[in-house]
Amino acid sequence: MSEKPKFYLTTPIYYPSDKLHIGHAYCTVATDTIARYKRLLGCDVMFLTGTDEHGQKIEDKAKEAGVTPKEFVDNIVEGPRGVKDLWKLMNISNDRFIRTTDDYHISAIQKIFKQMYDKGDIYKGVYKGKYCKPCESFWTESQLKDGCCPDCGRPVQDAEEEAYFFRLSKYAGRIQDLLENTDFLEPRSRVNEMVNNFIKPGLEDLCVSRTSFTWGIPVDFDPGHVVYVWIDALSNYITALGYDNDRYHDFEKYWPADVHIVGKEIVRFHSIIWPAMLMSLDLPLPKKVYGHGWLLLDGGKMSKSKGNVVDPYILAEKFGVDALRFFLMRTFPFGSDGNFSNELLIQTINTDLANDLGNLVSRTTAMVGKYFGGALPAGCGAAEDEKKLAASCAAPECVAVISASDGPEKFDGELIALAGALRNKYQEDMDAFAPHKALEEVFAVIQRANKYIDENAPWALAKDMQANGPRLAHVMYNLLEATRICGILLTPFMPESMDKLFVQIGAGADCRTWESAGVWGSLSDTAAVTKGENLFPRVDLDKALAQLEAAEEAARKAALPAVEVEPQLEETVDFDTFCKSDFRVVKVKDCVPVKKSNKLLRFTLDDGTGTDRQILSGIAMYYKPEELIGKTLVAIVNLPPRKMMGLESNGMLISAVHTEHGEEKLHLIMVDDAIPAGAKLC
Ligand code: MSP
Repeated sequence: MSEKPKFYLTTPIYYPSDKLHIGHAYCTVATDTIARYKRLLGCDVMFLTGTDEHGQKIEDKAKEAGVTPKEFVDNIVEGPRGVKDLWKLMNISNDRFIRTTDDYHISAIQKIFKQMYDKGDIYKGVYKGKYCKPCESFWTESQLKDGCCPDCGRPVQDAEEEAYFFRLSKYAGRIQDLLENTDFLEPRSRVNEMVNNFIKPGLEDLCVSRTSFTWGIPVDFDPGHVVYVWIDALSNYITALGYDNDRYHDFEKYWPADVHIVGKEIVRFHSIIWPAMLMSLDLPLPKKVYGHGWLLLDGGKMSKSKGNVVDPYILAEKFGVDALRFFLMRTFPFGSDGNFSNELLIQTINTDLANDLGNLVSRTTAMVGKYFGGALPAGCGAAEDEKKLAASCAAPECVAVISASDGPEKFDGELIALAGALRNKYQEDMDAFAPHKALEEVFAVIQRANKYIDENAPWALAKDMQANGPRLAHVMYNLLEATRICGILLTPFMPESMDKLFVQIGAGADCRTWESAGVWGSLSDTAAVTKGENLFPRVDLDKALAQLEAAEEAARKAALPAVEVEPQLEETVDFDTFCKSDFRVVKVKDCVPVKKSNKLLRFTLDDGTGTDRQILSGIAMYYKPEELIGKTLVAIVNLPPRKMMGLESNGMLISAVHTEHGEEKLHLIMVDDAIPAGAKLC
């Protein structure tokens, strides 16, 4: 028996400094979809993910939280709604999960570092340069963008310390050749970026140890130094297979990796530093690095510090895991950036899943139930010429033969040819890391099948079962068969829903396989069909948007420190700082709800300056807008302007907050109406 082809693929290992957001889920869902696709093809898949837990940022965050770094990362990785919980929820089928704080990884990194040192590729020197703390990246002056980190745009710090260096410069020629003359890095557009920005200006040796913090893997032959976090992190791809350790024994079997899937900002580490490290270790290089785009929010990158992250838990709980997985893969071309929005998510669910796929399945299964009692008559299945047509993958002459008839039979050929050609097109797209295109092909067949229902008008045929029964049964069979093929190819994207779909159309294990997706007529013509639950219910856009906003707000509140339970006094501020706050009495000239928000009210205020001041306040849950008009309130007026729901807010109205039965209540501070607008509080 021939051995199954191996396929080893990885996601980046996530940095657990905060809870993960939808951008992280995007990368992992994409990799999971490819892993499931490869398993469907019959490969022996190894799918690795994990967490990258060292570095100064984690050390700092742990200190802030008053816990040890290990306690801090344990909570984010293993704790409730942490990384592992999220992957379980999202139905991620990783075969292995590595934490860089695992003992076997730590000792393997020490060996790897020593191996490179013994080879003369790591040497001791003095590091002088710039360091971006949030990115854990060192930069030279020339690499900075406007004096800031070229990746995240934040300010960098001067750094000078004794450190070990990796002779990256030694490998510049080989790396350039790898990038320019092979298909190691994709999409191709990323190659120019790497070569022009990093290699051509001169690849400098890389600082690979630090002495200014301790939360890292110690260099065992020089205490005081910890290994640079990227050397530690990148090596996970081999330590998790058992390289330089005895925990696993799969290195020979799976290395080199078939593909590392990574986000575009870490392509540099994967396509320059990682291959150079492997060259130094005399190990084979991964076959490919694929750099996908970012999910953007309002045109910018999501980040916890900007406060614009989208919580995948909320979306999965509201719309279902499969709908969310599908949306991520269907909407955004994998190699490019895409703008995330809740509206787009809901529209995709309604158009593709509820309308197109959901309707096809529910109409077909309902009609088989209504007209044939849930099982079609024997003999209604695929005719020999139809099987040939599907197998010849839509050769135009075959379509012409089948479509020659003038009657509605001509539509059979079109549907069968399209469905018959689907698997190969889908395979091409999936192999080219274009899952969005593969889904486009599948949905072209689904849409064709829906049109086929209308063209054949089964309800009209059913009026005379005596005369039309066999034709009606064949039409139904064709619909079931097209649905089955699409269902197989959608399985990597929506595994749970497709299992339910197969049950509804009566497709057993033998006709859910990759093989059978290429064979029209695989479904038994007498399969037991049942109209089951609606797989993808339609979503009410406005209602869902309001619910999402409320859920996001509740999650934000829940993430705040537990002041509700145990009121604590705030940190002290010095008097001068306090005096800088400009509190004024303001009069409400107008107050209206903010469209599409169930928490914001928009105030037009008289602040005594003669020009109206606009402030947005999140108190819609506690007051009716009209009852506030004319009231005298207090506002802080020297905060920087802030945009909410596209509107600018200039200041903040002051409220008192307290909790009642675990629920937060806000009361605007109202003062004597005799006080004129603009009066300063002191
Ligand atoms: N720890 C490093 C990776 C080490 S791999 C040896 C790291 N971690 S990360 O948690 O910051 O990011 C993990 C992945 O999530 C990266 O590939 C990154 O591009 C991806 N994403 C983070 N935000 C994203 C979006 N908004 N959109 C798409 N992917 C994004 O980098």
